[in-house]
Amino acid sequence: MSLNYSNQELHWNAHSLVQVAKKWRNLKEDFPLYLYSRKILQDRFQLFQKSFPKARIHFAVKSNHWQPLLKELKNLGSHVDVVSFGEAEAALEAGFTPEQILFSGVGKTKKELESAIKIQVYQINIEGDDELNRIIEIDQPVRVGLRWTPGLDAKTHPFIKTGHLDTKFGMSESDLLAMIEKIKKYPKIQLQGLSMHLGSQIQDMQDFKAAYLALKDLVNKCQTDFKNIDLGGGLGIFYESQDLNQDEKLLTEYKKVIDEVFFDSGLQILFEPGRFISARAGGLLTEVQAVKSTPKKKIIVVDAGMHQLIRPVLYEAYHGVFPLAESLKLEKADVVGPICESSDFLALDREVGQVQVKDLLWIADTGAYGSSMASRYNLRPEAKEVFIEDII
Ligand SMILES: Cc1ncc(COP(=O)(O)O)c(C=O)c1O
Repeated sequence: MSLNYSNQELHWNAHSLVQVAKKWRNLKEDFPLYLYSRKILQDRFQLFQKSFPKARIHFAVKSNHWQPLLKELKNLGSHVDVVSFGEAEAALEAGFTPEQILFSGVGKTKKELESAIKIQVYQINIEGDDELNRIIEIDQPVRVGLRWTPGLDAKTHPFIKTGHLDTKFGMSESDLLAMIEKIKKYPKIQLQGLSMHLGSQIQDMQDFKAAYLALKDLVNKCQTDFKNIDLGGGLGIFYESQDLNQDEKLLTEYKKVIDEVFFDSGLQILFEPGRFISARAGGLLTEVQAVKSTPKKKIIVVDAGMHQLIRPVLYEAYHGVFPLAESLKLEKADVVGPICESSDFLALDREVGQVQVKDLLWIADTGAYGSSMASRYNLRPEAKEVFIEDII
């Protein structure tokens, strides 16, 4: 349990957030603030790494592109998965080498492909024929993987499924087999393997198992001397619980699936985890600006909103909400942001302690798809980001 109350103060990874917030205020800094823990980030990365010691772990930069976090992961031995050349540049700036960069993503432009080929990234995962045609036009040595769509409707929010039929991502089996034949005519294009990404926040191991078994069959059908197999990211976490053992159990089950399916593949395995590594390593500190009572409910207006954390609005996603000062009396309230949109909320009908203006709330587990999805909507300032270890 990395989050708990002790002496009526919320503690995160054994640091009192009340004290941390005081220090932040003393530095004349504002809220909202994305706070990260180096320690938790390390633990999460190492947990994944220890489960798959022989695999290449490509952290999904889309989940968090904050430079100090990327640098930390680099030092821990991570590689990266990027979905735009902008993310590749962020990775290079953090010290990753092109050899550590896997370039995924639908709709890569010619310019992006030229840039990636110029610096010779480790692999470009091709998502369809138009992308391959652009690579052929560029006519330079390049290492590629082919992204396959398993046609499997994983149990997760519709907006974060990527492996079902009729998705914009990847290719069907027949298109992929045809592409292998086409690539043979272009000796500068070196086909290294197949890739897939089933979706995100997946907790059902049967979904992973079905997709990976089908991928393994496809590898055999391809009759190609592949070097690697890219299993994507997508492993979920239990946002509704602060008991990290539950995530760990899920990882153990995931490992079991991988070991069962791929123990004899002889291929280098690649992973692209984002959320599992970074989500628990961050939280958002936000200050209460107003407390309103309507005939039906209480509304807590805070200074963070959908411009800083869009997941609740976009995916009906759950994030724990905890007042920094423990309140024994819980009350149901909506926790909403300052943006001029009725859809701007962080939590609805949530049992939150009694809070007043200027109190601080902790929005838990925002280290993935928090700051990386932030926008300038309403021209509100960006939230700063800092490691807790750097201000205590
Ligand atoms: C291609 C690709 N790889 C990896 C990821 C990371 O997924 P997650 O953060 O769920 O592990 C995503 C996210 O959707 C993705 O689109």
